[in-house]
Amino acid sequence: MGNFADEINKRRTFAIISHPDAGKTTLTEKFLLYGGAINLAGSVKGKATARHAVSDWMEIEKERGISVTSSVLQFQYDGFCINILDTPGHQDFSEDTYRTLMAADSAVMVIDASKGVEAQTRKLFKVCVMRQIPIFTFINKMDRDANDTFELLDEIEKELGIATCPINWPIGSGKEFKGVYDRETKSVVTFSDTEKGTKEGLATQIPVEKEDELVSHIGEAFKEQLFDEIDLLDGASAEYDLERIRAGKLTPVFFGSALTNFGVEIFLQHFLKMTTTPLPRKADIGLIDPVENDFSAFVFKIQANMNKAHRDRVAFMRICSGKYDASMEVKHVQGGKVMRLSQPQQILADERKILTEAYAGDIIGVFDPGIFAIGDTICMPKEQFEYEGIPTFAPEHFARVRQLDTMKRKQFVKGITQIAQEGAIQIFQEFNTGMEEIIVGVVGVLQFDVLKYRLENEYNVEIRLENLPYEHIRWIENKDVDLDKLTGTSDMKKIKDLKGNPLLLFVNQWSIGMTEERNEGLILSEFGRN
Ligand code: G4P
Repeated sequence: MGNFADEINKRRTFAIISHPDAGKTTLTEKFLLYGGAINLAGSVKGKATARHAVSDWMEIEKERGISVTSSVLQFQYDGFCINILDTPGHQDFSEDTYRTLMAADSAVMVIDASKGVEAQTRKLFKVCVMRQIPIFTFINKMDRDANDTFELLDEIEKELGIATCPINWPIGSGKEFKGVYDRETKSVVTFSDTEKGTKEGLATQIPVEKEDELVSHIGEAFKEQLFDEIDLLDGASAEYDLERIRAGKLTPVFFGSALTNFGVEIFLQHFLKMTTTPLPRKADIGLIDPVENDFSAFVFKIQANMNKAHRDRVAFMRICSGKYDASMEVKHVQGGKVMRLSQPQQILADERKILTEAYAGDIIGVFDPGIFAIGDTICMPKEQFEYEGIPTFAPEHFARVRQLDTMKRKQFVKGITQIAQEGAIQIFQEFNTGMEEIIVGVVGVLQFDVLKYRLENEYNVEIRLENLPYEHIRWIENKDVDLDKLTGTSDMKKIKDLKGNPLLLFVNQWSIGMTEERNEGLILSEFGRN
């Protein structure tokens, strides 16, 4: 067992984001390969194998009845202990993705070189900017015909509003991909299409001043072009500035091809030098330093069991400080209870294992009998503080929910509350009544169907959803506001969340403006907090 501070300081926790198909899975697999977590030596070649290796543990998860995919992988590389948080890859932007980003210290953005910035990336990216998460860009698929490099960078700058700093520079693309120029060492690393699924082949590194050797590898035309581009680049691109990178204002850009395993290790090595150790997190008593404090964590994601025979869930928590030891008692602050976390587990690249200890920066998944909610704090029994909640996205669709069988009131309330705790829906009540009238808000309408399905299948409760015309919700920031006295428009609705916080529903922007005008000093916010 290593030293406490040493263990924490060698940790790097990042989320990997991309538009579906840009190559996130392939890149992740290659990272694992370098960590020795997936050993492909001697196995059948090809991507299918790499896939297979990863899907093996998915099978294990399935057998154990826990839903898969968006997980956390841990591997060791060059003295570092790396946690990769995978973000759900579906087309729909989900709040899950957003929450996952809250648990990371940095993000790796994978972009397809022939597609540039795509819709999904744009949305995820906004979240990173909002949270000032450092972003590292990997422009993938250089072995296919790529867009012009300057244009790609320009697009990132314009579309995403962040300055770019290429750490290396591609030479050609597609069939003509020759390798990358490393700006720091002023040398060219030549492309070799290694056996897919194996570690990087023996790439040749040629200093640019050795022009003859360079020409023999990449040809005269590419050499000329490279020299021109280097000149342009040195004059035009943003300077390397680690502080700005760490503040999320500048993104270092790398080029490569995850499939053929080119540029992946180069990326990893630079990335590890630039990223930070686990960062302090904000709580109501101030910043909690990861090394100076005892164990604490916050829940950022709750995953329901896909197997309806076991209605248990897994709560994923990010350890923010200290060391966790499976034998110790901890306090669930929001529930006010001291307990032992049951079956704490960690997903290593090739297995899901019950862990005995973990450190700040790590993510653990614990069995949740239905007590945790997103944003909850776990700390030592003697402590009392709460981590700053995770802002929730404003729902845009609302419906009133009624259970058909009034005898099933208890199951209904339990079911809908648990589903809300998982964060897929948000529930509200009429301002002046209790739980008998429940209003559900969702970001995407699909969630209404999911709610109906899950209540029927998992809780045996049938419901009827009655759509409401509201499209905007606003939290009231003022602490002392008297909702009875608040004058809005006739189509405005007053509601409250489960903690009793007042909220307003509006049909359109105009009503929001009118309400703000009619109530001087009223501060409305688009974001709530879990
Ligand atoms: P994702 O997780 O971001 O969704 O992407 P994933 O890694 O699954 O990759 C999507 C496809 O792109 C895969 O193709 C994968 O092999 C390919 N790919 C990933 N990196 C590279 C690269 O560097 N170069 C090239 N040429 N291809 C790459 P697929 O599974 O064969 O099939 P399909 O999904 O295209 O049908």
